Amino acid sequence: MLKFHNVSFEYPNQPVFDNLNVGIENGEFIFLIGKSGTGKTTLLQMVYMNLLPQSGYVEVDGYNSKSIKKSELPYLRRKVGVVFQDFKLLDDRTVYDNLAFVLKITGNVRSQIKRKIVHALTDVGLVHKQHNMPQELSGGEQQRVAIARAIINDPMLILADEPTGNLDPETSMEIFNILKRINLRGTTVIFATHNYDLVRKHEAKIIKLNDGKAVRVILKNKGQSTSEPA
Ligand SMILES: Nc1ncnc2c1ncn2[C@@H]1O[C@H](COP(=O)(O)OP(=O)(O)OP(=O)(O)O)[C@@H](O)[C@H]1O
Ligand SMILES: [Mg+2]
Repeated sequence: MLKFHNVSFEYPNQPVFDNLNVGIENGEFIFLIGKSGTGKTTLLQMVYMNLLPQSGYVEVDGYNSKSIKKSELPYLRRKVGVVFQDFKLLDDRTVYDNLAFVLKITGNVRSQIKRKIVHALTDVGLVHKQHNMPQELSGGEQQRVAIARAIINDPMLILADEPTGNLDPETSMEIFNILKRINLRGTTVIFATHNYDLVRKHEAKIIKLNDGKAVRVILKNKGQSTSEPA
């Protein structure tokens, strides 16, 4: 469903990936880990083809970075929901209007808009806050709205870039649980994080970036781990 094949990528004067190979199957929940600067955010941006490899290719649900046309990018991006550490809600409009904004630019007709918003907000337990402004919500609530926004067009894949980075441990667990529940309904989730506590406590697959490459890490008892190709 998602494949990085011999991907090399560098920013000007900053190599990031060197023949990176990663494969992710439909329906997986993946923790993406690695020290700061190893390329987690860069990798996620390559999944929605905001960045393209200098060599090798990225394949997402049949779209290939080598052959995708600019006019096809909106179709790919509709299949991918993104959640950021700092929520990135529009602070000049209500929760409802934040979600309506996304639905309008992705071509939903008026009759679908209200139904989809209520559905997504119900999923994250925030229907009662739909008329509030983002700054009237706690950080955890704002992140739940951001998740509602990410799932509103029923994507096949969610990319979460340190979604719990600004949240306390209990709220982080809530956010993880919401994403896990969405995953159990069939949506693939890639969860980039520094929160090793969360990673250790859960059965999920781990992809670790290091030196421009990736490995899958398998956690064992007593903190031991083994790795295999990603
Ligand atoms: N726009 C850019 N231009 C040049 N270099 C960049 C740019 N964005 C990131 N980098 C560099 O590329 C490398 C990978 O960055 P990236 O943000 O993907 O790492 P990360 O794993 O997400 O780090 P963190 O855990 O701190 O979020 C870093 O060395 C970073 O300094
Ligand atoms: Mg990052």
